[in-house]
Amino acid sequence: MRKLKLIGIGAGNPDYITLQAINALQQANVIFVTDKGEQKRELLRARREICARHMGTREYRVVEMKDPERDRAATAYGPSVVDWHERRTALYGQVLRDELSDGECGAFLVWGDPSLYDSTLRIIDQLTARAELAIDLEIIPGITSIQALAARHRIALNEIGESIHVTTGRRLNDETLGAGASVVVLLDRGCAFKGLAADDLDIYWGAYIGTPDEILISGKLGEVSGRIEELRARARSQHGWIMDTYLLRKRATSSH
Ligand SMILES: C[S@@+](CC[C@H](N)C(=O)[O-])C[C@H]1O[C@@H](n2cnc3c(N)ncnc32)[C@H](O)[C@@H]1O
Repeated sequence: MRKLKLIGIGAGNPDYITLQAINALQQANVIFVTDKGEQKRELLRARREICARHMGTREYRVVEMKDPERDRAATAYGPSVVDWHERRTALYGQVLRDELSDGECGAFLVWGDPSLYDSTLRIIDQLTARAELAIDLEIIPGITSIQALAARHRIALNEIGESIHVTTGRRLNDETLGAGASVVVLLDRGCAFKGLAADDLDIYWGAYIGTPDEILISGKLGEVSGRIEELRARARSQHGWIMDTYLLRKRATSSH
C-alpha cells in the first residue's frame, strides 16, 4: 500500500513547522508540491526551502503538479468548484499512481493546516472512496493563518464565553454579527468588510503574516478600513496577489 502524509507546514513563517511535521517529512520518498501559477510561486519556493532545510542528506524526489485553474468567470460558484475538484482529483490520482510506488511514502506540504480551506484532503478522500487507490493516510496538523493572526496581534480569538465564526470574504456580508461575536475572514478577494456597518466593529487585519512582507493593522473598522484598502491595493500591485486574514469583533453593548 502507498503511504501518504498531508503535512501542515504552517502559514507563513518557516519556523511555524512542528517537530511532528519534520519527522513526517523525513519519512517521505516523494514530496508533492502544487504549483498554483505565477503569482503564487512564492509559496512554492517556501515549500522547497522547508525541504532543503529539514530533509538533510536524505534522498527524496520532488514532484511538482500544475494545479488546474478554477473557472473564475463562471457565473455559478458551486458547479465551477465541483468541476475544478474533478479535474484536480483526476490529476492527483494520475500523479500518485505514476510517481509513488507501492510501499513508498509520499507527502503533500499543505500551507497552514490541511483542515482549513484546503481541498487536498477532500481530493484524497475522493480517490480512496472510488477505490482508485489504496492509501494509508496520515494528517499532520499545522499552524493556521488564524492562529498566526491572533499571535501577531497578541489577541485571544474569542471574547469570554463567546463564539468564534470562521468565514470567507464571499460570505461575510450574509453573516449576522451579534454583540461580542468574533468573525474570522479568509479568502477575501475584495474588501468585503466595506459592506458592513462599521460603527461598533473592531478589525485585526494581517497580510503575508509571518513572512518578511507582513503588514498588521488594527483598530475601529470605520477608522482603519480606508488605510487597509490602500495597503491591500499597494500589496496587490507589488506581489500580484494578496494573502490576508482578519478578525472582526462586534463590541458588546454595555447593559449599565
Ligand atoms: C486556501 S486558504 C488556506 C488556509 C490555510 N490552510 C491555513 O491553514 O491558514 C488561503 C487563505 O488563507 C489565508 N492565509 C494563509 N496564509 C496567510 C498568511 N501568511 N497571512 C495572511 N493570510 C493568510 C488567506 O486568507 C488566504 O486567502
